[in-house]
Amino acid sequence: MPAAVHVADHPLVQHSLSLMREQATGSSEFRHQLGQLSRLLAYELTRGEALHAVAIRTPVAAATGQRVDGSKTVFVAILRAGLGLLEGMLETLPGSRGGHIGLYRDPHTLEAIEYYFKLPHDVAECELVVVDPMLATGHTAVSAITRIKQLSPRSIRFVCVVACPEGIAHLHAHHPEVPILTAAIDSGLNEHSYIVPGLGDAGDRCYGTRE
Ligand code: URA
Repeated sequence: MPAAVHVADHPLVQHSLSLMREQATGSSEFRHQLGQLSRLLAYELTRGEALHAVAIRTPVAAATGQRVDGSKTVFVAILRAGLGLLEGMLETLPGSRGGHIGLYRDPHTLEAIEYYFKLPHDVAECELVVVDPMLATGHTAVSAITRIKQLSPRSIRFVCVVACPEGIAHLHAHHPEVPILTAAIDSGLNEHSYIVPGLGDAGDRCYGTRE
């Protein structure tokens, strides 16, 4: 049985997503809402994070505080739209670190070609969270996770904003143990492999590269 697919149904998540879906939302507002969403998704993702006790001093007395150490969590952005999720997640989880992976599909062989790959050196001791706003066909996510698995991280999770049944099925056919966190599961793909209703091309909408 494949790992869980969790839909973050918090009202603030759905509010941001709805603004991002609007065709009239410009790229500055789109990036802002994606940043908001990234923090909310990071809250959801870190619900089970371990706390460790530390001795602190309040203005009134000595006390015991609780801290999170995110230094073994690495958020890996799939370029380029994944960048829109990365900063907010790094800000939200104290001590967490980032990685980047860039892949393009060779138009002739359809093979995923890596053009950028940079992760912390101690990945084998880390929990990885691969982030990309759209889980459409799932091909890029599968290639990125296959590549990352060569470094034998302790665990891998996948976070997106909009998923669809085809993308989920493809990801879990190749990597059934990878849990997915998303803000929505839309109805499917159109003939151009865009998610319907989706939000269009997340990279273009983030960076204003297409009118
Ligand atoms: N990538 C996107 O940015 N949007 C889609 O709908 C599908 C893939």
